[in-house]
Amino acid sequence: MTTTRQPHVALDGPVHWWQDEVIYQVYPASFKDDDNDGIGDIRGIISKLPYLKSLGITMIWVSPVYASPMVDNGYDISDYCAINPMFGTMDDCDELISRASALDIRIIMDLVVNHTSDQHQWFREALADPQSPYRDYYIFKDGRDGGPPTNWRSNFGQGSSWTEVPGEPGTYYHHVFSPKQPDLNWENPTLRAAIYEMINWWLDKGLAGFRVDAITFIKKDQEYRDLEPDGNDGLGKVRRRTENQPGIEDFLDELKQRTFNRFDAVGEASGVRYDQLDQFIGESGYFSMIFDFHYADIDVASGSEWHRRVDWTVPDFKNLLFTSQMSVQEIGWAANFLENHDQPRSVSKFIRDPEYRTATGAKALGATYFFLRGVPFIFQGQELGMINAERDGIDEFSDLSSHDNYRRSLEEGYSADQALAFVNHRSRDNGRTPFHWDDSPTAGFSDSHEPWLGLSEKSGTINVAAQENDPDSVLNFYRRMIELRNHSELSTELIYGEIAEITDVPDDVIAYRRGSRLRLYANWSTTDQDVTVPAGKVHLNNYPTLEQGADGVTLRPYQSILIEVSE
Ligand code: GLC
Repeated sequence: MTTTRQPHVALDGPVHWWQDEVIYQVYPASFKDDDNDGIGDIRGIISKLPYLKSLGITMIWVSPVYASPMVDNGYDISDYCAINPMFGTMDDCDELISRASALDIRIIMDLVVNHTSDQHQWFREALADPQSPYRDYYIFKDGRDGGPPTNWRSNFGQGSSWTEVPGEPGTYYHHVFSPKQPDLNWENPTLRAAIYEMINWWLDKGLAGFRVDAITFIKKDQEYRDLEPDGNDGLGKVRRRTENQPGIEDFLDELKQRTFNRFDAVGEASGVRYDQLDQFIGESGYFSMIFDFHYADIDVASGSEWHRRVDWTVPDFKNLLFTSQMSVQEIGWAANFLENHDQPRSVSKFIRDPEYRTATGAKALGATYFFLRGVPFIFQGQELGMINAERDGIDEFSDLSSHDNYRRSLEEGYSADQALAFVNHRSRDNGRTPFHWDDSPTAGFSDSHEPWLGLSEKSGTINVAAQENDPDSVLNFYRRMIELRNHSELSTELIYGEIAEITDVPDDVIAYRRGSRLRLYANWSTTDQDVTVPAGKVHLNNYPTLEQGADGVTLRPYQSILIEVSE
């Protein structure tokens, strides 16, 4: 079975097989419901492989389908080597890997090893018997002064990152995320060996690698000291003592050497500074690529507190984007994305005037990021220009962090309406709504069963059926971008060419060069923008025409072009 392969563009110098992939993220619960129970499944993904092939993508990242009580939608795993029956069986999973491979599509899966579910057998045994060897698979500590060991606030739940062990007053276990996601103790070599064994078991099945979840949290500051409080609850954010802490390098290096060394490992590695990129994605770095959240989270101050909204500008965005691209270019390869299962829809986030949240807007955003240097990730539905849902009450949300954020906003003194607005803007449910295959009441996601989560805004055209044969659709624009990047005379430059920002453009225009000939211009505003561009061949344009003058062009609102200049 194919797991690794030769890059299709022959080049001198160090080239890795994963550099020219185009990766599509499937969120299984919401992609396609094959058995009509309202929840997407693995057979649904298999049934849509021809669609994915027609898009031109080369790799699929499958969000967790492992056994799980689904408190955090599968990011709480109760058995790493079993499939959640709601998604199918292990045979289905094996079939997905082999059927995709037959289409020359590789599969990576989520690897969630900072924590397990509290329903994992290891944790159950750790609770049932304090003398069990599994006790040391997790982090248990004695409390202090009648309370938890430290004043750390968890990422989810907005309370302490410690939970008292039932039946053992004064003893606590640690969780960076929710109390139902106890942290694994990476200090324990036996635990680490068990994790490596599990990872290799999956790789032997023919996976091409992993998207490695929340991986910079595996090392905790071993001194377990209190934090200076950063909220009126007297607590401090847990990440200040648990994210990218000194000593993590030993764990990450060992993890790589013992498991995914030859494979594609994309790290969700928050908290990594640009001056640390070499360790993470350099020639012998821990990962092939890592995601950079700086510009994805431009609209909220901390990335997790949704009421702290930021009134960002396009120059702010450009600054973050190019700082990131330039830093990565010196060292390695970027993982470029606009959306994922933790983010709202990009059209709704980055286009602030609702009138411009159109196919044209979706294409402009797509072109802006797709030709950046690195691997483009497409989140399901992004290629249709899907937009956020607008929900009328907090009860309509499923995502646990949406409920946390709602409560936090009320605590901070906002009204219920304001709190709901923050959650509508930022809820992770926005990206998790069922995929729109057609315009029927269930969007073609299930045959007739009501989907597990309310659909996002539908229109007659934000669905595959309407866009499939429309040459001007967002879907066909994405197909064209993929073809240009991977299968055209521009491929070498679009994949491997150097990137440089073009700075002599208006504030609201984002522009960059790839290699010596190619230039991307995107107008991120609702007004016309004049830019100076030498004459050349336009390979991509999200408008039917382009207004060209003697020494430049006028970009219409959200117009975006890829041009090959002759000089
Ligand atoms: C990652 C996942 C997110 C999950 C969290 C805890 O950030 O992307 O969905 O809730 O880790 O596992």
